Amino acid sequence: MQPRRELLSHRALGVTQSAVRDVFDIAMGPRLISLAGGNPWLADLPLEELSRIAADLVAQQGTESLQYGPGQGLLEMRQAAAAVMAVDGIPDADPELVVITPGSQAAIDTACRTFGNPGDVVVVEDPTFVGALTTFNTWELDAVATPTDEQGLIPASLEETLTALAAEGRRVAFLYTIPSFANPSGALLPAERRDEVAAVCERHGVLIVEDNPYGQIAFDGAPLTPIAAAHRENTVYLGTMSKIFSPGVRIGWALVPSALKREYYLAAESAFIHASTYSQMLSTAFLTQLDWQGHVREVTDLYRERAAALAGAVREHWDPAVEFADPKGGFFLWATLPQGVDTLALMHRGIEAGAVFVPGAAFSPVEGVHSTLRLAYPFVDAERLVEGVQRLAPAVNEAVAEARTR
Ligand SMILES: Cc1ncc(COP(=O)(O)O)c(C=O)c1O
Repeated sequence: MQPRRELLSHRALGVTQSAVRDVFDIAMGPRLISLAGGNPWLADLPLEELSRIAADLVAQQGTESLQYGPGQGLLEMRQAAAAVMAVDGIPDADPELVVITPGSQAAIDTACRTFGNPGDVVVVEDPTFVGALTTFNTWELDAVATPTDEQGLIPASLEETLTALAAEGRRVAFLYTIPSFANPSGALLPAERRDEVAAVCERHGVLIVEDNPYGQIAFDGAPLTPIAAAHRENTVYLGTMSKIFSPGVRIGWALVPSALKREYYLAAESAFIHASTYSQMLSTAFLTQLDWQGHVREVTDLYRERAAALAGAVREHWDPAVEFADPKGGFFLWATLPQGVDTLALMHRGIEAGAVFVPGAAFSPVEGVHSTLRLAYPFVDAERLVEGVQRLAPAVNEAVAEARTR
């Protein structure tokens, strides 16, 4: 059906359907092996204990759990979020500065409402999280890419980007960054660069929005200390239950600088009043009554195995001209095909062959042909991952061969 354009705001007219969403509809088909979605593996959750807790939340605490709650979020949930952040590497997060949101997606949206005017710039990594790009688009913010390498942001380039934007008279609403096991690149920003990035932003008076859903999904060793740990007054730090517990509960949060808390919290309240009381209580129980860190360790082990199976299959079955780094954590393997290969067209050929990935164009603020793609491994067992890579192999290898002859 044609949209009734005359009823739509400029903002709504400007929103483009993300390629990920397109793919999700297709990827739901049972015939396809989906290497597309960033769904966590939930089958290893302590479901019996959770169902007991969930039932008690209604039977014994129903008048509380089904009621409105405080706009900033329940104190117990904010304290539990602070405990998660301590494991992330921020040992002293003050629950008074935490705002609970319906997932970190809503926290990104709240950051746009709070800090961005239409036409402002949000500086981003290229590639970056497609959901954030869509939100920036919705708020009429201009996502401008600053150069990255396989480790993420390059501080000297960020300095140049901010200097150039200042020279053009552009207002920068914030830097949006995913320093740990980024979606989609998997990049892990080294510790020294984290401080340098913070210093560059502080020099330019630019706020940092640090999004960290994957920091604890580290395949070897502890999470790297977030930027926010040492730069609290210039960083809005986003956390979520989605990857360590459940995305369906829709619980995330922002740790906000004290000087910005009131405005951030009021903007959040104007959008959604507060995150679900019931979900906050269930999430708090998960974090205080169950061995949540044990669960994170268990799924991280599983993801490590799956990532290795996926990387091994790509190495074995795809043309060696396809470049990628073995994932060190998080959910994704990011692959770069030779220049000129259009991975959007390749995606359609892959779907015909029975497997689906997300083409790189979805993750870039820059329009045009992209020769990159993202494979997700958490939700598919190793055997099916290998099968998916094999199904895609003829189309991938043909596209690489075609690129060679050009
Ligand atoms: C980098 C990043 N930020 C935010 C989100 C949204 O997560 P949530 O479920 O907490 O809204 C995702 C989900 O995939 C993500 O990858």
